[in-house]
This record gives sequence, C-alpha cells and structure tokens, in this order.
Amino acid sequence: MKDLRSRFGFHTTPFTREIQVKDCFHTEPFKEALRALLRVLDQRMSCALIAPAGVGKTALLRALVAELPEARYKVHYVKVTDLSKRDMCREIALAIGSPPAGTFPSLVRRLQDHFLSTATTDGLRPVMILDESHDLRPGVFGLLRVLTNFEMDSRLVLSIVLAGQPPLQALLRRSDMEAVAKRLAHYATLRPFSREETIGYVNHRCHIAGATTVPFDPKAIDALYEVGRGNLRATDSLALKTLEVAHDQNAGVCDASHVVQARKLLWP
Ligand SMILES: Nc1ncnc2c1ncn2[C@@H]1O[C@H](COP(=O)(O)OP(=O)(O)O)[C@@H](O)[C@H]1O
Ligand SMILES: [Mg+2]
Repeated sequence: MKDLRSRFGFHTTPFTREIQVKDCFHTEPFKEALRALLRVLDQRMSCALIAPAGVGKTALLRALVAELPEARYKVHYVKVTDLSKRDMCREIALAIGSPPAGTFPSLVRRLQDHFLSTATTDGLRPVMILDESHDLRPGVFGLLRVLTNFEMDSRLVLSIVLAGQPPLQALLRRSDMEAVAKRLAHYATLRPFSREETIGYVNHRCHIAGATTVPFDPKAIDALYEVGRGNLRATDSLALKTLEVAHDQNAGVCDASHVVQARKLLWP
C-alpha cells in the first residue's frame, strides 16, 4: 500500500505539531506582534501576548527567541502551571540553572542577584518568557513585580513576556494586579485565521512538507476553514486526518466529503 506521504508527494508528514521557526507562516498580525514584542524588549520593558488556545502563541514566542541576538539577551522560557509562588520561584530557579533550594525569601534574593549579575557582569539583558500565563495564580504576580522592580524602579533589569489565553487579560485587570499590569508596556494579540489566511496557511504547510501541488481541492480548503474556524491547531489535526481518510479511499486529492468524514472521526 502506498504510504500517505508518497501518495500526496510529501517528503515528511505535514501538519505536525512541531514547526521550525524558519518554516513559520508569517501573517500580518504575526509580524506585527513580533515587531511589537521585539521593540518592548529592546526598551527593557515587559509585555503580554494574549490569544486563544491554538492560534500560535508558542510558535510566535519561539520566533521571538530566534530573533533576539544571543550576544545581547539571555532568554529563559518557563511554561507556567498552576503553582504557588514558592513553587513558581523554584521553577524559575531551575530555568536559570540555579539550585531550587532554600527558603522563599532566599530564593527570591538569589533570582534577583542572578538577573542583576546577568545584566551587570555579563552585559546581557535577562528576558523571562512565561508561557501559559493564564494559569498563574494571583499570588505569583507579586513575585513578578518584585523580580521586575527590585531596584526601586531605578533600573530596568529583567523583562518579562507573559503569554496566555484571554483569561490572562481578566487576571491583569484585577485591582491587586495593577502594579504588574502597569509594568506591561504592550499587549500583543493573535486571533484565529481568516478564510484567506487559512488558505495561505494550508498551502504553506503542504509546501514546507515537500508537496509541489496542494492535495486539497478548493472546496476541501473551504471546509477546513468552516470546521476549523481559523484555529491553527484544529486546522492541523483536521487536515492531517483528511489526508488519511482520502488516502484510505485511494483518492489522489482531498475533497470536502473527506473533510466531513475526518471531522466525524476527530470530533464525533
Ligand atoms: N506562524 C505559524 N506558522 C506555522 N504553523 C504555526 C504557526 N503558529 C502556529 N502554528 C501551528 O499551530 C499549532 C498551534 O500553535 P501554538 O503556537 O502551539 O498555539 P498556542 O500556543 O497559541 O496554543 C502549532 O502546533 C503549530 O504547528
Ligand atoms: Mg502554547
């Protein structure tokens, strides 16, 4: 039996979860958000990136890291889970390669010293990316305030990028978050793709996987948009399942009926 890839002319499996930075699809909102985040970090400020699940926050953060010159920035990526401020402190310590032991105050001091020495001794700007920040507990925001402001506002040492789903925005509007929210110099957003962007995206994902002709007919791509509603993660799963369905039925091109069957298999 012909394999999925050779049937449709792919060199590699398309629509996979992992995407290399160089293969990212750059829409205008993507480029705009990237430019804004780079500007904020250049000004040693902090910022937020807010968007629903599956529309490309983590991909954008990886593109951001790739754009930051290693000679100028020291970037730490932390994936937030529902942690107390003590545990969060330990996570951050692990991310910067410092022992996660000791009392809470001593840990906080160690983190402060670390970021300060990165800035002064190494001449690098420390940046901490907190992905999935909508899961931050309110108590942790105080810790972030302390870390971004430990020299009484006299110097901007650490930049923080808070990336998360829309509940993060609500969290930042709470009155006890005001001090942290005030320190964010920019709120970048991403939204689900439009129909046009989805067409471009599906073509792009097929091409980077090696296909010279796109194995979805126009009605199939329309159906991918109608079902996936421009959510990249949903579009990826649906497109891959559609290819499998068409492959099993010995079709050379996916049509709308393959998309409908794929949807039923994925989300019955
Ligand atoms: N700019 C992009 N170009 C190509 N694929 C992307 C892009 N952004 C996201 N994706 C794809 O969409 C999926 C979901 O994106 P992700 O960044 O994980 O979303 P989020 O972090 O907002 O939940 C990823 O697995 C990736 O394959
Ligand atoms: Mg993510």
